[in-house]
Formats: sequence, C-alpha cells, structure tokens
Amino acid sequence: MVVTRFSRLQHLLLLQPRFQQSRVLRHPLTRTPTLIRSVMGSSSSSSSKLLFRQLFEKESSTYTYLLADISHPDKPALLIDPVDKTVDRDLKLISELGLKLVYAMNTHVHADHVTGTGLLKTKVPGVKSVISKASGSKADKFVEHGERVSIGDLYLEVRATPGHTAGCVTYVTGEGADQPQPRMAFTGDAVLIRGCGRTDFQGGCADQLYESIFTLPKDTLIYPAHDYKGFEVSTVGEEMQHNPRLTKDKETFKTIMSNLNLAYPKMIDVALPANMVCGLQDLLPSQPN
Ligand SMILES: [Fe+2]
Repeated sequence: MVVTRFSRLQHLLLLQPRFQQSRVLRHPLTRTPTLIRSVMGSSSSSSSKLLFRQLFEKESSTYTYLLADISHPDKPALLIDPVDKTVDRDLKLISELGLKLVYAMNTHVHADHVTGTGLLKTKVPGVKSVISKASGSKADKFVEHGERVSIGDLYLEVRATPGHTAGCVTYVTGEGADQPQPRMAFTGDAVLIRGCGRTDFQGGCADQLYESIFTLPKDTLIYPAHDYKGFEVSTVGEEMQHNPRLTKDKETFKTIMSNLNLAYPKMIDVALPANMVCGLQDLLPSQPN
C-alpha cells in the first residue's frame, strides 16, 4: 500500500512535464534514494560558505531567511520574505555578523503582512528588491523560472511554483559540491510543513498548485514562509509521505482546497496594495481620486 502511494507521489513530485525540459531541474530518478533513506533526510544543511539564519515574525507567523556567503571578502547576503515589522532586527543581525545585504527577495506578493523590502531599500542604499515577473508587483529585479540569483559563490535557483498566487516562486540553493548540501528550498506558501497555501485569492488555483509542485530530490530541505504549529523545517520526502493535502490525488486535493472555508485574510486589504509596490506605499506620491 505504501509502495503504491509512493509511486503515485513520486510521479507527482518528480515527473512534472514542465520541469523535465529544464536543464537546471534535471535530477535523474535513478539516483533517487530509497523511501526509507529519503524520509530520514537531514534536518540541516552544511556548507563552509553558507551562513544561514531562520528568523521569525510572530504576528503573521512569517519566517524570514538570511543567507550569506561568508567565504567571500564582502560577505554578501540576501533576505527572503522580510517583514516590515522586523526590518530593524534583521538589519541589526546583519550588521553584527558583518554582512553586506545585497538582495531583499519575496517568494510572492504576501497577503498577510507587509513586506520589509521597501523599508530595507530606504535603510540600506543599494539593496535590490527581487520578485517574480509573474507576480505583477514592482521590484528592482524580476526573476523567472530557471534564473539564478547569486551572492558571492552561492546562488539560488528560481522555480515557478504557482497556484497559491499566480506569481509564486520557490528559491532553491544551488546544485553541486560547492553549494549547500542537502539543497534548501524556500517554498513561500506553495508548500508548508504538512500543508500548503490557500488558493482562493490572488489568482490562486488549486489545479495549478497541484501541478506546480516542484521536482527536487527527496532529501531537499523545505523552509516555508510560515508555520503556525512550531515546525521549522521539513524535507521533500517527508512531505511526500505525510503532507495531508499533497499526498492526495488531484481531485481530492481540489475538493479539500475548495472546502477550507477560511476567513477573509485580515491583512489583505493593507498588505496587497503595499506589497504590489514593494512595501513602499507610504513613499509614493498620493494619487488623485
Ligand atoms: Fe501568501
């Protein structure tokens, strides 16, 4: 029974046609570790170059991730999904660690908090905001599926994972011996630990979310944008086996997603307009009515 279910999941997670043609996504199935080994994946990644911090904003239960290449003389760094309320904390840490913030990135246009990218840009000249082109938001740098964002000798690969919003991407650490092992995937709200993002706003689509589940080795570490239960990290293999939504067939998944009966997001009316302009809403000239 487990074997049958795994085969189906393996197909769902590793054989999505849209990814098979991408050079950067080629992961030979023949090298896929056994189920037992994969679900016992490591809970941390190692690299002599990478400095990594997982930071938390408690009001929206948002994780912000700090990554830096500390082998590089400049110690270039980036933040993924910063929150406006914790920008000062993040910058203090960056200063204490002697890092140079280069990029402030978002996995998608958030509806539950205001991004910190706008504030970061005002406080640290030269910082570039990054978001997917498909998000329709403003930013200094737009990324698309397959592109890389580099800091020193480390890089993040961009993977389109739409469905929670139309423009959701997952940032994945690089492939190769000189990059962190195992790889780390910053999934935003596309895949949460034992869950996934809602699909009823912002161009969300359950069908699309199900199809866009990315192709990654099962020991890849999953770092989501939120957690509400105290989890910090999972693996692709672990979610393949235990995620209560993503282990279902597509029709069941769509039924689940259309019957969540979630409340209207309380921050959405504030967060969306702000995040569409990179959190710089207060600095924009007022528009005539
Ligand atoms: Fe979201």
